[in-house]
Amino acid sequence: MKPIITLAGLVLALTATAVEAEPIVIKFSHVVAEDTPKGKGALLFKKLVEERLPGQVSVEVYPNSTLFGDANELEALANDEVQLLAPSLAKFEKYTKQVQVFDLPFLFDDLEAVNRFQKRAKGRQLLRSMEKENITGLAYWHNGMKQLSATKALMLPSDAMGLAFRIQPSAVLESQFAQVGAPTKKIPFAEVYTSLQNGTVQGAENPWSNIYSKKMHTVQPYITESNHGVLDYMLVSNTRFWFGIPHQIRTELEGIIDEVTFEVNRAAEEANQADRERIRKAGTSEIIELTPEQREAWREAMRPVWQEFEPVIGADIIKAAQTVNR
Ligand code: LMR
Repeated sequence: MKPIITLAGLVLALTATAVEAEPIVIKFSHVVAEDTPKGKGALLFKKLVEERLPGQVSVEVYPNSTLFGDANELEALANDEVQLLAPSLAKFEKYTKQVQVFDLPFLFDDLEAVNRFQKRAKGRQLLRSMEKENITGLAYWHNGMKQLSATKALMLPSDAMGLAFRIQPSAVLESQFAQVGAPTKKIPFAEVYTSLQNGTVQGAENPWSNIYSKKMHTVQPYITESNHGVLDYMLVSNTRFWFGIPHQIRTELEGIIDEVTFEVNRAAEEANQADRERIRKAGTSEIIELTPEQREAWREAMRPVWQEFEPVIGADIIKAAQTVNR
């Protein structure tokens, strides 16, 4: 006799399979401390996922380059060894040149302007610029505007001449410092403190939250409040992994990401200002505020980078970014 499979039986069997299914594991690796905009965002994502998708998705967060660091995290994402990352926008050069628009010095007046660009069509489009490389951008997360730190006081561009600066792996940043006669070294974030401490480099550029959480202010006697560029993140996943998640679960995850993004971006500027204040109180570095004329001199000196990179980034993207300043 042929076995008869009833619809009810099939539903029961499928439900049982679903109930027994192992949770989807999302490893989220990043390179900064937990008490930073990105670090807090990763933890909030974990908390909300575990509240709303118990037994279906579990999230493991690895801060401070403990699982993967700058040198290998994107490769690990491609190999599905990690499922979520939020690298700085300066770290995608190997996969897309367009995202380098964010590295152009003095392009955005402030974080609000960056925010407007990220929300517009051209900004959103960049989230999908690496899909051929199996990388899907899910959101932009803010950290903040970068400040210049060094072993000497930087008031004018000529003060930076000959000092070696640590940079993220971006040709735009290399050129930015070349404009002021400063050599650069591409060093992973995990090694920045030591490189500054032992004199491998004499300067760096970071938002206040990264300077404070990695104690860079204890080995850099001067910090110039230059706000010359932005350090933001793209939350990314492996495209095949992400779109392989069952639709209902993925939709829930996307809703959670929207909430976390809102919170990270709402709180980032305040967190950076609080860390600026902590650095000031620590008294180990002098915070140099530039006059409008001094800041303009830096802007003029670094401005040629825009033209140099226009052919690779795209004039349309640079133009769209410029229109967000008020
Ligand atoms: C850096 O390397 O300086 C930053 O990208 C680190 C980070 O993730 O904020």
